[in-house]
Amino acid sequence: MSKTKESRLEKLQDLEPSVDEFRTSVIDGLSGPQKTLPCKFLYDERGSQIFDDICDLPEYYPTRTERLILERHARDIAALAGPRTRLIEFGSGAGTKIRLLLRALDKPAAYLPVEISREFMIAASRELAKSFPDLTIAPVCADYTQPFTLPDLPVGHDATVGFFPGSTIGNFTRAEAVDFLKVTRNLMGSGALMIVGVDLVKDLDVLRAAYNDAAGVTAAFNLNLLRRINRELSGTFDLSSFRHEARWNERLDRIEMHLVSLRDQEVAVGAHRFRFQKCETIHTESSHKYRLDGFRKLADEAGYDPIEVWTDEKNLFSVHALRAR
Ligand code: AVI
Repeated sequence: MSKTKESRLEKLQDLEPSVDEFRTSVIDGLSGPQKTLPCKFLYDERGSQIFDDICDLPEYYPTRTERLILERHARDIAALAGPRTRLIEFGSGAGTKIRLLLRALDKPAAYLPVEISREFMIAASRELAKSFPDLTIAPVCADYTQPFTLPDLPVGHDATVGFFPGSTIGNFTRAEAVDFLKVTRNLMGSGALMIVGVDLVKDLDVLRAAYNDAAGVTAAFNLNLLRRINRELSGTFDLSSFRHEARWNERLDRIEMHLVSLRDQEVAVGAHRFRFQKCETIHTESSHKYRLDGFRKLADEAGYDPIEVWTDEKNLFSVHALRAR
């Protein structure tokens, strides 16, 4: 990506995970007694597009509820952030919610989207550059669950704000969420403000519908992972021999996405072969739901002081403001 006079779009810092990492994760994940696949690999270009469609579904309340909270409180966030911020978004996706913050912030200095899906992020950065021509945009393609470095910026900044919307933090286990927040604190430094969207424990019918939509978009999202394995790792998954299932795990307060084998079958991934019994599942994603206090405690363990939290009227979703100690 080249720098143009109008856009100030910096060169991409490319730390995208390799196909080898994908292969190793798939072979390891399919070799255990409960077959698993890491959810970060759901987001190839097509998966990212399907996820965008999920966000518009009538049953999928998190996106529109979080947007409503951000619309209401963007000015509060800007006041906590102060002027001339360097704004880092973890898992930037289509880059829509960030516009709310960028419009509210006082003279934002730079925006650094960090995203695993490279092509998707490049397209989103270009679009954003058209709307914010004076903003320095420095995209980083990286797996933000691993420590990584930020590029040097051609502009100075007075404060740092992290933004992790969408309750993507819920896709980590509790321990992973603590580790992730520690990584962000080390990356951003003491005094940084962290804004995190966190989905809340709620009525089970609402939760189940959100992950089992009538139009089958979430099912297509889940099954796309098998398509990706076929394409990138010479897999032989027959997509019509698996079905999507979303389950509530009461003990761990989480929705789990599984792919259920519809028959006894054998599948190859390159030179490796895996047997599936009828009804056996691959666990592809967990989406943990929190209570307000539970999340504050987690943030505190990771070295952040919880300073503010905003929710909607129905208590479906929460947006937390945390300050790095
Ligand atoms: C990205 N993440 C927060 C979504 C979630 O709700 O856990 C991913 C998703 N999976 C199925 N629907 C949406």
